[in-house]
Amino acid sequence: MNNNTIRLQKMIAENSDYSRRKAEELIAAHKVSVNGEIITAMGVKVSYKDEIIVDDVVLFHHEKVYFLINKPINYISSRKDNFNRAVVTSLVPTNEKIYPVGRLDYNTSGLLLMTNDGELANGLMHPKFKIPKTYIAKVRGNYSKQDLSKLARGINLEGKKTLPAKVIPLSYDKKSQIGRVQITIFEGRNLQVRKMFALIDTKVMELKRIGYGFFNLANETLPTGAYRELKVKEVQKLYNLINNKE
Ligand code: URA
Repeated sequence: MNNNTIRLQKMIAENSDYSRRKAEELIAAHKVSVNGEIITAMGVKVSYKDEIIVDDVVLFHHEKVYFLINKPINYISSRKDNFNRAVVTSLVPTNEKIYPVGRLDYNTSGLLLMTNDGELANGLMHPKFKIPKTYIAKVRGNYSKQDLSKLARGINLEGKKTLPAKVIPLSYDKKSQIGRVQITIFEGRNLQVRKMFALIDTKVMELKRIGYGFFNLANETLPTGAYRELKVKEVQKLYNLINNKE
C-alpha cells in the first residue's frame, strides 16, 4: 500500500490552479471533501488514493495502466536519465506517469512490465514473493557443468548466497567457448545474472529476459521495442501472485 500522505491544502495546490492559501480558504468554507466527508479542519493528511472533491470538482482521477514491453538494448529502465540516454517509458505512449517494475540493464533486452500502480509494482518487486524471471544469456567462458550447478544451488554473491535458480545449458561451442544458458532466478539483485556468471569466470555477452512471472516472450507477439496493454485478467493474476503468498 502506498502510504505517502501530504497535507490536503498541499495536495490541492499541487494538482490544481488553486494556491495553497486559496485551498485553505476553500477548506474553511467547507467546500472540500475527502472520500465523501466534508473537511473543516486544517492539516488533514491525504494520499493519491483518496477521492478529493474541491468546489464540486474531482481533483484528480488516476487511471491505473499496465503495459508489457519488449525492451530493446540501449534503453535505461527509468523515467529519466542524467546522460540523456533513451528511457523505457518513451516506448509507451501514455500521459500517465508509469514506472518500470524493477530494472533491466541498459544492455539487457526483453520482457518488462510498466505501470503507474505503485502497490502492484512494489509487491512484485518485493523479494518475499520470489517472482520468477527467466533469461537467455549468451556467455563466453570455460565453464563446466559443475559451475552451472553452483549457480543453480546458490552462490555467494557479495556476502549473500543467491536463492536456488533453474539453470539449463542450451548450447556450447568448445572452440570459441561461447554458450547459451537459460537461467531462472527468483530475486532481482543488481546485475544479478551478470555477476553470477562472473563468479564462474564467465562473461555475459548478451542477456535477454524471456520470462517474467507467468509472461513468456514466446507466447507474445511483441517485436523488440513494442508494447501491449495488460488484460484485466492478467492484472488480477499479478495481484494473486502478491496476495496469495506470505
Ligand atoms: N541480471 C542482470 O545482470 N541484468 C539484468 O538486466 C537482469 C538480471
